[in-house]
Amino acid sequence: MSTTLASQDRTRMTVDDIFAELKMRLGAISPDFELREKAELAHEINQLKLKRNAVILGHNYMEPALFHSIPDFVGDSLDLSRKAAHTNKDIIIFCGVRFMAETAKILNPTRTVLLPSLRAGCSLAASITAADVIALKQRFPGVPVVSYVNTYADVKAESDICCTSSNAAAVVASFKSDTVIFLPDEYLASNVARETGKHIVFPTRLASGAISLDTTGLDYQMIGWRGRCEVHEKFTVGDIALVREQYPDVVILAHPECSPEVVAASDFSGSTNAMIRYVEQSRAPHYLLLTECSMGDNVAAANPDKDMLRLCSVRCPHMNQITLQDTRDALLYTQYVIDVPEEIRVRAYTAVERMLHIG
Ligand code: 13P
Ligand code: SF4
Repeated sequence: MSTTLASQDRTRMTVDDIFAELKMRLGAISPDFELREKAELAHEINQLKLKRNAVILGHNYMEPALFHSIPDFVGDSLDLSRKAAHTNKDIIIFCGVRFMAETAKILNPTRTVLLPSLRAGCSLAASITAADVIALKQRFPGVPVVSYVNTYADVKAESDICCTSSNAAAVVASFKSDTVIFLPDEYLASNVARETGKHIVFPTRLASGAISLDTTGLDYQMIGWRGRCEVHEKFTVGDIALVREQYPDVVILAHPECSPEVVAASDFSGSTNAMIRYVEQSRAPHYLLLTECSMGDNVAAANPDKDMLRLCSVRCPHMNQITLQDTRDALLYTQYVIDVPEEIRVRAYTAVERMLHIG
């Protein structure tokens, strides 16, 4: 699966061409009438995209028909941030969630950035506010703040650097400081702590908004936060045990937003792109991806010769909001425009820009 698709090819494709491609990739999981309807929409979107001089960025969690028919680029958060930073198209359509569209605007403010649905949020981004970060900085003065890219712009503006699941450990290791604050994903932070050999502590936020943690006698190098991805927290070690019992030779890949216990019980952990590469470049009797289900469908469609086991009741309700219809409407009606106040954007830019230079 390539992270770079030629938009030129897509805009030249007829409805029949798109239908044939969707049928070849997704014929086993979707009926023809549905694929035909989606091919017609995708064709309309590709023509509108050309007319409006737009680029479409699609996260790996997009539903399979959308994923395989309209994005100019598909990839993980880090990858798509880089694409957003460098595009010279007038409009960036972000088929992903709000924090991703905001990151595109932070990096490329002269472009119009559109998110096809305003309901595409993220439980991690919602778990922390700028006021929380300010309170943490007051409690731990001088300690650098690393924020996962799954945060809103005002939180990024209070941070020293951002990271994604691709480069989180490298970002933490890049600091000379003995201690770092790592926000807001409890599980990603714990996984990074394990990987970098650091001890992590989790402070409590009091009703007053102040941060409480008695550090007397504590040995710690990372300060975390109790945010969680509502999708990845659902996977359990029990799920893994059951699958291994039935398929002893399965290779299990877990996103680092899964709990440390799940990551430890898996064979590999990495960003969505890293998992895709792993499947592409290895040959195992069976694979199980512990991540959002649409990505499992997309990886299965791109690797028809490999056996992907499904543990698939787990879809991200936010990513799931982005449909072909809403993407067509985004281009037709220029909606929904994502803006970031300039005073916040310039401070967030520094943190995001630093992230792009690492790993
Ligand atoms: P990636 O950066 O690995 O694509 O992850 C983004 C995300 O939201 C995972 O839940
Ligand atoms: Fe947020 Fe989890 Fe959905 Fe990713 S999968 S967008 S981290 S809620």
